[in-house]
Amino acid sequence: MAVETEFVYCTCQPGAEPALKGEVAARVPEWKFAFSRPGFVTFKLPAPVSANRFEPMRLTFARTSGLSFGRVEAESADPAALAKLIWEHGAARQLAETGPLALHVWARDTDLPGENNVEPGPNAETFAAVAALREAAPAGALVDRSNEDEKKTASKVAFDVAMVEPNQWWIGAHALRSRVDRWPGGVPRLEAPQHAVSRAYLKMQEGLRWSGIPAQKGDYWIELGCAPGGASQALLDVGMRVVGVDPAEVDPVVLAHPDFEHLNARASEIGVDEVTDAAWITADINCAPQYTLDGVERLVTHPSMHVRGLLLTLKLLSLNLAKPEVIAETIARVRSWGYTDVRTRQLAHNRREYCLAALRTRGQRRVKRSGVVKKGR
Ligand SMILES: C[S@@+](CC[C@H](N)C(=O)[O-])C[C@H]1O[C@@H](n2cnc3c(N)ncnc32)[C@H](O)[C@@H]1O
Repeated sequence: MAVETEFVYCTCQPGAEPALKGEVAARVPEWKFAFSRPGFVTFKLPAPVSANRFEPMRLTFARTSGLSFGRVEAESADPAALAKLIWEHGAARQLAETGPLALHVWARDTDLPGENNVEPGPNAETFAAVAALREAAPAGALVDRSNEDEKKTASKVAFDVAMVEPNQWWIGAHALRSRVDRWPGGVPRLEAPQHAVSRAYLKMQEGLRWSGIPAQKGDYWIELGCAPGGASQALLDVGMRVVGVDPAEVDPVVLAHPDFEHLNARASEIGVDEVTDAAWITADINCAPQYTLDGVERLVTHPSMHVRGLLLTLKLLSLNLAKPEVIAETIARVRSWGYTDVRTRQLAHNRREYCLAALRTRGQRRVKRSGVVKKGR
């Protein structure tokens, strides 16, 4: 029988808990706040539910969410001791019987992404925890990544272990329905290459993966607020062409790329005739979202422009800008330009900002199943 619980967990950027709680209160008021640490929040559901029946909410400020089955705690942060306690827990034992499960292990971020050179994602502690959990797992509980046959078995549920404190691990589970559900803790595994001139490279890579924007090699992008050029590089590295708009200096490495052109101007100053071939617009302007949206609107609503989609970074310059009603107004404004598929997410590599992806229709989304990229689902 599927194991049930009344609790749900959400992971988020440290400091985004108030925004997440506000969003839950507005969108799923039946979830009652239960527990919070920076980057990890739990809520009580109106009734118990099992992992495969739980419909996750796609929340702007939750990197991932799932069912929460409680926690184990040891005197020290010894991974072997904690892993043993995990597998002794009644809920973990019951979940193990429904295996093989994917194993998702992550630690709360200690800082804002990019602060002190720390980026979200796996680290030495999480690798040690994974090894200990695998070592102590009951037979058949987890998908065996080393076994070729097992690799082909796509598990439908992830067994989650959130390292909320080094010596306090929380047990969870969530259904694997979308590509984002397959990222432990909601963080895709990315690494900026040596030549990346800014960490916006990671932001762009994550934005492309999350949004499923169906851009093709040779497509032409406008980037508003492109300097020094990391995000443009991420586009250029996958074969896109980019016109970068920014009054600030672009790194010479990016300027030298044959498929990059710099317009040394503010977003409001460029002529539409300079960019009419653009299929996609991305923006990362360090100003209020209204300003970014004004700049984008001027382009997408021009009769000679045919922009298929948008990937915008919107800055949370104040707490007010994270309020659900303010984000809803932003989404409504983008929809009014003819984009019916508009989604928002605070990406793991976002700082005090979030990402908005917009496509003309949902059918445009690039859906990846069994390694095959399908277009126009
Ligand atoms: C966060 S940085 C962009 C980082 C960049 N996307 C990258 O990949 O390296 C914000 C940029 O917005 C630019 N900016 C500010 N106001 C602008 C405007 N009105 N039009 C275009 N760019 C603007 C700044 O000069 C700055 O380079």
